[in-house]
Amino acid sequence: MSFKRTHSCNALSPADIGSTVTLCGWVNSSRNLGGLIFLDLRDREGITQVCLDPATQPELAAKAKDIREEWVLSVSGIVQARPENMINPKRQTGAIEVMAEELEILNRANPMPFHLEDQNASEDLRLKYRYLDMRRSSILPNLRLRHRIAKIIRDILDTNGFVEVETPILSKSTPEGARDYLVPSRIKPGSFYALPQAPQQYKQLLMVGGLERYFQIARCFRDEDLRADRQPEFTQVDLEMSFVDQDDVIALVEKLIAAVVKEVHGLELELPLPRLTWQAAMDKYGSDKPDLRFGLELQDLNAVFANSTFRAFTAVQESGGVIKGFNAKAMAESCSRKVLDELTETAKLFGAKGLVWLKVEPNGDFSGSAAKFLSPAEKDALHKTLAAEPGDLLLLIADSWRVACEALGRLRLEIADRAGLNRGTDYKFLWVVEFPLLEWDPEEQRYAAVHHPFTSPLDEDIEKLSSDPGKVRAKAYDIVLNGVELGGGSIRIHNQSLQALMFKTLGISDDEAQLRFGHILEAFSYGAPPHGGLAIGFDRFVMLLTGAKSIREVIAFPKTAKASCLLTDSPSDVDPKQLAELGIACTEHN
Ligand code: AMO
Repeated sequence: MSFKRTHSCNALSPADIGSTVTLCGWVNSSRNLGGLIFLDLRDREGITQVCLDPATQPELAAKAKDIREEWVLSVSGIVQARPENMINPKRQTGAIEVMAEELEILNRANPMPFHLEDQNASEDLRLKYRYLDMRRSSILPNLRLRHRIAKIIRDILDTNGFVEVETPILSKSTPEGARDYLVPSRIKPGSFYALPQAPQQYKQLLMVGGLERYFQIARCFRDEDLRADRQPEFTQVDLEMSFVDQDDVIALVEKLIAAVVKEVHGLELELPLPRLTWQAAMDKYGSDKPDLRFGLELQDLNAVFANSTFRAFTAVQESGGVIKGFNAKAMAESCSRKVLDELTETAKLFGAKGLVWLKVEPNGDFSGSAAKFLSPAEKDALHKTLAAEPGDLLLLIADSWRVACEALGRLRLEIADRAGLNRGTDYKFLWVVEFPLLEWDPEEQRYAAVHHPFTSPLDEDIEKLSSDPGKVRAKAYDIVLNGVELGGGSIRIHNQSLQALMFKTLGISDDEAQLRFGHILEAFSYGAPPHGGLAIGFDRFVMLLTGAKSIREVIAFPKTAKASCLLTDSPSDVDPKQLAELGIACTEHN
């Protein structure tokens, strides 16, 4: 390169008129207008219009004639004002242009495999050519924001005494509960490392080691079915603290989140963030990650139907179930029979036997599937409990508490989606606390840990570990933003006898505990401090802060929903010789 850039392509303004400048970048577009050639030169900061005049610069103009989109150029020239009628107010540099005096073609480019600004180009094509997609889509701004957020997080944690430590990637299975990615060992044929689902065990070992405050922006790997907010490899802001209780971890994380939101969006979050117990979140919103941008709260309708003669309701009440429902405000008209059938199908997917819907007519009466079974007193009570008004749609489910909550929780989201209530750009954070410690696994016929077996029960619930394990609540907490689980953590068990009781309750024998967690149990026997922590899904956090629809939009090189990388074509076959070296038999696929 014979000359170096003096400015970015977004830097020049009328204040620079008359100066000689050099810009470097890609040709965004070129056009020949009224004898002048215009090139839009683009770099990561923006676009500047370059102008060539064949009358005064015939050699340059001849060179420029062949230039195509995405060629790489360096241009020197003089900044001049654009004619009044050519000013582009939408562009930062829209009032000026650079009249070229020198031009160097730094590289040519083949025709692009798709038009870089084409919003309809398939995501597969964009992922195969991710490096091209980056040039004009929102990916680069997203990556730059991601960098800024990581920097803020590092600075805040550093100021608060946290030490960033890298933990191994070639490791042993961790207790997060998803499927592991395994890496075969060449030195020890037949043995495998597991890629970490999270640095959980190492961070606890760092507490035993006396580090006291650890964090890491850590890569994690989970072989699970993918969704818009899940990737097989993703990043956590992982942290752990010693000599703390739940409130200390929560306060620190709130401070961190508030600082990021302030820096990125200039918004002051009101602290402390609201908290809901898991029980209340399920009861009110039918979800352990409720979206609080809208109401549509679920109500308990058992009292309304205490004397019901409607068989579907009485049968459920007799068997200890519940009747719950919510008011889909003003949705009667827009929910046609077809939509109501779809909502019923959704409820069934969650295990509900059916969905009762009632529309509130202009005269205040109800129409709908079960209207004829309701007594005047029940109608009156229903009106009051659900604050029903003409035009409202009431959705009711009678079932076990869990099924009724979860099915209505899903319907609440669907109604919000149809009514456009979930499109606000508010940041509605909340903590969900007091999760159940254990859940019954009907297949295994034993209790399983909801989080992992090192999660501490609430002190006042410890005695129920033996008598009523399903009722024990955990010192576990999730941070939720706009209906997405942003992060989660817990206070860990540091006391050996409580850990032994936990394993016993989980039906994990001493031998099995030794086999799976021997190294950590041994470490805990040498004076583990009380400790706890949390991990924030970093990709999810950036996704929500950028307003991206999928975490793929905030990851440089994401995997597809089938967990493959289209750019490198991985996973791919390997040489049988490599497999033999690893002691793995080569089998035919397909
Ligand atoms: P957990 O399993 O809840 O906790 O994970 C913490 C957060 O990580 C994010 N996350 C994911 N993001 C993208 N793709 C995935 N496949 C994925 N899986 C999880 C979520 C989630 O809230 N070791 C514990 C934390 C602790 O107890 O300290 C853990 O990993 O945002």
